[in-house]
Amino acid sequence: MSRQQRADILAAPATRFNSALIHRMIASSRMVRALSIGALARLELTVLAGHKQPPAMGAIRAARSGRESLLSGNEAFTVYSVARAQSALAGEMAEVGVYQGCSAKIISTASGGKPLHLFDTFTGLPSPDSDEQDRMRTGHYAASLASVQSFLSGHRNITYYEGFFPGSAEAANGRVFSFVHLDVDLKSSTLACLEFFYPRLVPGGIILTHDYSYLDGVRAAFDEFLSDKDEHAIELATSQALLVKRCGRVALDAGAGEGNRTLV
Ligand SMILES: C[S@@+](CC[C@H](N)C(=O)[O-])C[C@H]1O[C@@H](n2cnc3c(N)ncnc32)[C@H](O)[C@@H]1O
Repeated sequence: MSRQQRADILAAPATRFNSALIHRMIASSRMVRALSIGALARLELTVLAGHKQPPAMGAIRAARSGRESLLSGNEAFTVYSVARAQSALAGEMAEVGVYQGCSAKIISTASGGKPLHLFDTFTGLPSPDSDEQDRMRTGHYAASLASVQSFLSGHRNITYYEGFFPGSAEAANGRVFSFVHLDVDLKSSTLACLEFFYPRLVPGGIILTHDYSYLDGVRAAFDEFLSDKDEHAIELATSQALLVKRCGRVALDAGAGEGNRTLV
C-alpha cells in the first residue's frame, strides 16, 4: 500500500466526521444557518441581480423576506427558473418539504397560477434512518401549517397536505405533474416521493431535488430508484439535481446516423 493510499484511508473518517458535524450544526442551529447559508444566499443574490431579470429576483427576494430558507441564492434561482419553464406544460406542481414556505412561494410565483400541492408534516423531519442520525434529528425544521398559510395568503390555487408523506399523498392520487420540488433531507422520504411522483409526471416533467450533493441519503434514493430506468439524475453546480421524465425511448435504426433517430 502506497503512502498516499494510507493517508487517504486515515483521512476518510475524519472528513466524514467533519461533514456530519457541519450538517448537524446546520440542521440544529438557526444562528449557524444564518451565518452560513444566509450569508452565502445574500452574496449570491447580489451577484445574480447584476445579470438576471428583475421579475425573477423580485420573486426570490419576496419569498425570502422575513423567512428562513435552506436554499442558497443560486438554488432559489434554479427553483424559480425550472418552475417557470415547466409552467408551459400540462400538469400541476408540487413540493414536498415546505418548512417556512420560502421555496413554495417561489414556485407559486413562477407557476403562473397553476395548482400547487404542498406536502409537509409541519412538525419537522420524521425519524432518520440509523446511518443518517449523525446529521439529522426528528423534528428539525418544524414550522406550523398556519404560519405557512398566512405567508402564502395572497397566492391562489394552493392545496396543503399536512402529515407524513407518502400517507398524506393519497388525496393527490389522480393528479399529474409538470414540476415537483423535493427538499426532504432523508433517504426514505426522497424514495417515497420518487415512487409517488415519477409515474405521475407528464412527458418532459421534472423532479428537482435539493441536497443531492450534500446528503448521501438523497443521492442514494435517486441512485436506487433510477437503477432500473432509462433516466439519470442531472447533477447541477449547486447542491441540486434534476430528473426529466422521458417522452419515450429513442431508438437508433441499425446502421443509422445521428439524424435517423425515432421516438418509440
Ligand atoms: C429542509 S426543510 C425544507 C426547506 C424548504 N424547502 C425551504 O425553502 O427552506 C425539510 C422539510 O421536509 C419535511 N419532511 C421531510 N420528510 C417528510 C415526509 N416524509 N413527510 C412530510 N414532510 C417531510 C420536514 O418536515 C421539513 O419541513
